Amino acid sequence: MELDIDRRDPVYRNWLKDAVGKVQADANRSADTHLLSVPLPAEWGIDLYLKDESTHPTGSLKHRLARSLFLYGLCNGWIRPGKPVIEASSGSTAVSEAYFAKLIGVPFIAVMAKSTVRSKIDLIEFHGGRCHLVDDPCEVYEVAVRLAAESGGHYMDQFTYAERATDWRGNNNIADSIFRQLALERHPVPAWIVATAGTGGTSATIARFVHYTQQDTGVCVADPENSAFFPSWQSDDPDVVTDRGSRIEGIGRQRVEPSFVPGAIDRMMRVPDAASVASIRVLERLLGRKAGASTGTGLWAAFRIISDMRAAGEQGSVVGLLCDPGERYLEKYYSDEWLAAQGIDIAPFTARIEHFLTTGELSTAVPVSAAVPVSEPAAV
Ligand SMILES: Cc1ncc(COP(=O)(O)O)c(C=O)c1O
Repeated sequence: MELDIDRRDPVYRNWLKDAVGKVQADANRSADTHLLSVPLPAEWGIDLYLKDESTHPTGSLKHRLARSLFLYGLCNGWIRPGKPVIEASSGSTAVSEAYFAKLIGVPFIAVMAKSTVRSKIDLIEFHGGRCHLVDDPCEVYEVAVRLAAESGGHYMDQFTYAERATDWRGNNNIADSIFRQLALERHPVPAWIVATAGTGGTSATIARFVHYTQQDTGVCVADPENSAFFPSWQSDDPDVVTDRGSRIEGIGRQRVEPSFVPGAIDRMMRVPDAASVASIRVLERLLGRKAGASTGTGLWAAFRIISDMRAAGEQGSVVGLLCDPGERYLEKYYSDEWLAAQGIDIAPFTARIEHFLTTGELSTAVPVSAAVPVSEPAAV
């Protein structure tokens, strides 16, 4: 018996065309982000750059991801007119997704840990989104699934789809852009690119692009305390979980997210939280800019890589990411009271960075403090 089911809905298809067109037109109006040069002594023969992702319209590298996730969800028929988009987030992705939801005219709900900084909640609400806060950061996934089921909406699930929604072969992705912007530098092919991992999507895109375009560049992921990514990569065990959340907003997860692609990564470092914060405080002196602490996690790893290159007599370039602006975290990483309450002492790390900036040497052995009490549920 022949069967034929035609579900084509011209009204929906017109809405879809319009929504995809709006997202693409928004991208077409956007400029690329800058590749900033971080000053180091010229005689080292090593150049350090930061890809400044804080200048996207929604202030973080998550703007790229949110655009990709919206296009993926729209083109898959998952995002529907009048139905909410729901996301589990540490805040940055939700800020960017709220922007795109408003652009195409669908409601948006962010599910986040209560400890997320107020400024991100304000930004989500500014873009017309709603925030659903949960006590336990590990709950964000299941609450987002439940809200989507109850509302008939779409759970975007950045942690699963980040790596596949992004076009890693090129198309002005973050890696493509970095390589094009380095073209006229003295070391146009970077020795290393350093990323951090929240979903793992950014590091997956960079690593895949490097391999696809047959570059010699190494890809390093810097991971904060209390994150599952580093121990999982170290032991080759995808089931590692940790018992407390990361204090570095946006990165470090208690489980290994599906978008983390471990086989594509060359090197990982575990970075003490105090080193991450010390790095952004020093960066402010170097660049006149405040950055979020995840930028510091990657920057510390870049300092260590440069120190190793110096010791090995190597020259070349190293690229890190300026993930989001520090103004979002004045009450955390730029607050000495918050640091004291968390038991974070940045002084020894600041001294090591200052020593590095004059000598090129960053001593290695600093134990990660496992004993620091976390007085509030950490944001993830
Ligand atoms: C501030 C910040 N930095 C870095 C990252 C890491 O990006 P990815 O999710 O691509 O691993 C995130 C992700 O949430 C973030 O919010």
